[in-house]
Amino acid sequence: MNDVAARPDIPGANVAGTGGLILPYGGVLPTIGRDVFIAPNATVIGNVTIGDGSSVWFNVLIRGDDHWIKIGERTNLQDGTVVHLSKDTAPTWIGSDITIGHGAIIHGCTLMDRCMVGIGAIVLDGAVVETGAIVAAGAVVSPGKRVPAGEMWAGCPARKARDVRPEELVYIDRNAAHYRGLGDSYLAMRRAPVPGR
Ligand SMILES: CC(C)(COP(=O)(O)OP(=O)(O)OC[C@H]1O[C@@H](n2cnc3c(N)ncnc32)[C@H](O)[C@@H]1OP(=O)(O)O)[C@@H](O)C(=O)NCCC(=O)NCCS
Repeated sequence: MNDVAARPDIPGANVAGTGGLILPYGGVLPTIGRDVFIAPNATVIGNVTIGDGSSVWFNVLIRGDDHWIKIGERTNLQDGTVVHLSKDTAPTWIGSDITIGHGAIIHGCTLMDRCMVGIGAIVLDGAVVETGAIVAAGAVVSPGKRVPAGEMWAGCPARKARDVRPEELVYIDRNAAHYRGLGDSYLAMRRAPVPGR
């Protein structure tokens, strides 16, 4: 039985409301905050911290084996996203109120609070996406690149496409709040009694 929600005997894990396949690596279990929705088929391994109100959607993999991964509060990692790191050289630090679109790959990099990584984008080792920046769908942010606050980068390799529009900044915040609520609704369904059982 690997579901931490069903293993209150395992120290170091906040068992309330978690789901998914939560595995230790090297004796370290993920630390999961309050009101975090983790989809039943998401996988979270090892030295991973997830802050309150974040959501980890279907088929996400967060693999904290060779280094650490920190995820802040109210950040959403949409379906199929992969988060990993590089041994000894590049942990992954994902801040708060961030949207990470479906199928993104976040590898050994830093995402600062309130940025957005588009669907299918890839952010590589040592790269930094600053607050209020957008990585377009399908973009590849090369190792060590910095996407400055307020810029939208697109393409492979990603380059500045334009400045972020004011309405897009509003959208980033609105979408983080939307996903927070969506996660809450999934948690509520999980806790609700199932008729007939
Ligand atoms: C980049 C994006 C913001 C659109 O920006 P935009 O400035 O409105 O772009 P437009 O649709 O007006 O297109 C402008 C040009 O950029 C190109 N373009 C649009 N999206 C692009 C992308 N993701 N990558 C590369 N080029 C893109 C268009 O083809 C167009 O090129 P052209 O001038 O040669 O015809 C949008 O395509 C995107 O990637 N959004 C991310 C959505 C997402 O993943 N959300 C997360 C889940 S909620």
